[in-house]
Amino acid sequence: MSGITLTHLNDLKQRGEKIAVLTSYDASFTQRIERAGAEVILVGDSLGMVIQGHESTLPVTMDDMVYHCRNVARARERAFLIADMPFMSYGSPQQALDNAGRLMQEGFAHMVKLEGGRVQLDSVHLLSEHEIPVCAHLGLTPQSVHKLGGFRVQGRAPEAAQAILDDALSLQQAGAQMLVLECVPASLGAAVSLELSIPVIGIGAGVDCDGQVLVVYDALGISVGHAPRFARDFVAGANSVQQALEHFVAAVKSGAFPNQDESYT
Ligand code: KIV
Repeated sequence: MSGITLTHLNDLKQRGEKIAVLTSYDASFTQRIERAGAEVILVGDSLGMVIQGHESTLPVTMDDMVYHCRNVARARERAFLIADMPFMSYGSPQQALDNAGRLMQEGFAHMVKLEGGRVQLDSVHLLSEHEIPVCAHLGLTPQSVHKLGGFRVQGRAPEAAQAILDDALSLQQAGAQMLVLECVPASLGAAVSLELSIPVIGIGAGVDCDGQVLVVYDALGISVGHAPRFARDFVAGANSVQQALEHFVAAVKSGAFPNQDESYT
């Protein structure tokens, strides 16, 4: 395989070098994100909100994901490519296997991402047994927005923080090779990153995660609706979209992003 591998991403974690991740949904942004030096591109189901204009990620379908993933894959040269499994595409381990297979075979993804804790252990195990790399996603899991009662910080109470840490360890044990941790106190982001041997990519999880991810439209200040606290508009102070993306990568690498105001306590 050409380009960045999981081995390289693990090496970055071992060396304490931060991993820069951006979402992309099309060829043009992919080319610019590549040039900016991000190691990982995520075809997120956030496309339901930022591309399709829905209120949540729930309406996104497998066909939508395959379509956008193919568009990104055509322009990809070097970045490691992760694709989200959309809502209701992994209700059972077998369904997860069938749909993850589509994302790899038709969408050319290198890894699939699915949301949830211990309920996903069997699926993660099965995918991993079938040589499909899995990125888990804990904390604020947007596909659970209605159950969670909105887009809110998770893991603030000590028991809730412990449950997230336990789930993270179990998912790693089941075969997950990366973890996205969203909207949790910075102290929990630091603890999970320390305890896990796999890379932990934060979004609103504090500066001590092994890497940071942003929805590319949030990083450019052009998302629909109000920007989350953890987003930064990198267009400010940049003279082009390309330079804004480069500023994001540089700020992740140097530890300048996120700052305290962009993190939760
Ligand atoms: O869908 C997405 O873009 C994501 C990121 C916000 C992590 O899951």
